[in-house]
Amino acid sequence: MQTSSTQVEKELGGHFDSHGGPQFLGNSFNTSGAPIHFNFNSDDKLPAKICELPDFILSPYFTGRGDKLQKIDRVFSTSSGDLPPRCIIHGIPGVGKTQLALQFATLAFQRGQYPYMFWVSAVSVEKATQDFCKIADLVRLPGRYTLDQASKLTMARAWLEDSTAARNWLVVLDNVSEETAVILRDILPRGDCGGRLLMTTRTATIADVFTASGASSQLALQSPGIGDAVAMLSAGVNLEREGREEVSHADAERLVQLVRKLPLAIDQAASYMRETGSGLQEVLDIYKSDKAPEASKSNGKYLEFTAG
Ligand SMILES: Nc1ncnc2c1ncn2[C@@H]1O[C@H](COP(=O)(O)OP(=O)(O)OP(=O)(O)O)[C@@H](O)[C@H]1O
Ligand SMILES: [Mg+2]
Repeated sequence: MQTSSTQVEKELGGHFDSHGGPQFLGNSFNTSGAPIHFNFNSDDKLPAKICELPDFILSPYFTGRGDKLQKIDRVFSTSSGDLPPRCIIHGIPGVGKTQLALQFATLAFQRGQYPYMFWVSAVSVEKATQDFCKIADLVRLPGRYTLDQASKLTMARAWLEDSTAARNWLVVLDNVSEETAVILRDILPRGDCGGRLLMTTRTATIADVFTASGASSQLALQSPGIGDAVAMLSAGVNLEREGREEVSHADAERLVQLVRKLPLAIDQAASYMRETGSGLQEVLDIYKSDKAPEASKSNGKYLEFTAG
């Protein structure tokens, strides 16, 4: 029954049904970016596929980044023998690191490239540990009911390192901080065991540290070029709507330049236009007159990124 299945999903953090195979429930993540929920019969049987992506969804307005997605694929097609290949995306807040990682994971899962997909929020030691331990639950390791977190971490790592099983897994470690980088060095799997690690961090130094340990490539994410930035704005708001104004490409360029082409700020400008029905010219006037906070009261980050 749908209700009890949902309860079990919540309790175990995994996703199960009574059909012994993957099943799409409600929010299929193929179209909406929400997680796919899989259901399986046997309590200790490894699911054929696991896609444990976060609750927050891929932006419905995701645009561009094709070259970066290809680069991640290239990094992951290499093999070092000593460590799972790692790709470390780094860049300033709001530049789109998490969205890029989520888009890569979504597409790779849809292609069947990585049937085992795990997301670890590395924003704090507590969260990273909790998410890493959850891998033991999701793959149904027999010892998963232990209360000993250290042994759960060890068994999750051992499962990932099991090269004889030749499982293709992808672990995304989102928002690695200085604090979490230290513990990750101990808990991350070693050996070229068929898995891949995709990491995001705001800190270039952390990217350097992980790169120095080998099998790693950095991807320094910048704001998109002007064409992609305008495309992001256009994806988020229908610039031609209702004949309110003649679409001016030059105005769109001016607006994205004003917010330094930062995806977070472009998204905020687009949301403001969607919510208020304002046109490009109006928004430009607001931003130029330094009243931008009205456009983004819900997010204090905005002003950091507007042009001075
Ligand atoms: N490629 C994209 N297309 C459209 N919108 C995007 C894209 N990348 C990012 N955005 C928008 O920018 C917002 C911020 O992106 P994201 O959360 O990925 O940034 P981040 O670099 O991970 O920031 P932080 O360092 O704070 O975690 C997203 O919520 C989304 O609205
Ligand atoms: Mg992020």
